[in-house]
Amino acid sequence: MLKEAEKLTEIKAFVFRLFHDDVTGHDDNHMQRVAEWSRLLAVKEGADPFLSEVAGWLHDVGDDKLFASKEEAIKERDELLRNLHFSERDITYIHHAIETVSFRKGKTPDTLLGKVVQDADRLDAIGAIGIARTFAFGGAKNQPLYRKEGGSSFSHFHEKLLLLKDKMNTPSGREEADRRHQFMEEFINQFNRETASE
Ligand code: ADP
Ligand code: NI
Repeated sequence: MLKEAEKLTEIKAFVFRLFHDDVTGHDDNHMQRVAEWSRLLAVKEGADPFLSEVAGWLHDVGDDKLFASKEEAIKERDELLRNLHFSERDITYIHHAIETVSFRKGKTPDTLLGKVVQDADRLDAIGAIGIARTFAFGGAKNQPLYRKEGGSSFSHFHEKLLLLKDKMNTPSGREEADRRHQFMEEFINQFNRETASE
């Protein structure tokens, strides 16, 4: 029998291989932060901590903005989990939870696993790290920092990031989101002050 720690070591190596070179804010460090927060929120909310951590590590595998073939990536992920002796039930549970995580697609997860992983992913989109990722993403996509009108990295705060705290699924996710939200508002006020022109 493989121990949980051994399974996680293999999963981390898989994630490192897939995401290490990403410069859009979706590198392996994003996966690690989401995995750690997924475990933490799972402990507080009564979800399975191990499966939550695993789903956190794997939540962006197959995301269509990061992978040429979603199906290929998901097949590879499930092969890995089978090789690591995850049950078919757990593989389906993880798959289903991950399918509901993306906030771009606006789904609300119907399992506790999906709820904690979505909250963990949303926490990583706000606060100091969320600010850093937004401008990294914008730079990688040749987007302007800010504009008086039209789309820019800065406009993403109003379009999406400031809305996230009210969309959190769990009380402990919401608590951390409130802290991060406050910091973002300070940043936005200061940014507006420094960029204001006649
Ligand atoms: P998900 O990966 O959950 O589907 P997104 O792709 O919308 O969600 O966003 C992931 C991260 O990418 C966000 O946290 C944000 O930092 C960044 N991002 C997405 N869209 C934009 C954008 N138009 N401008 C700047 N950053 C963006
Ligand atoms: Ni993510």
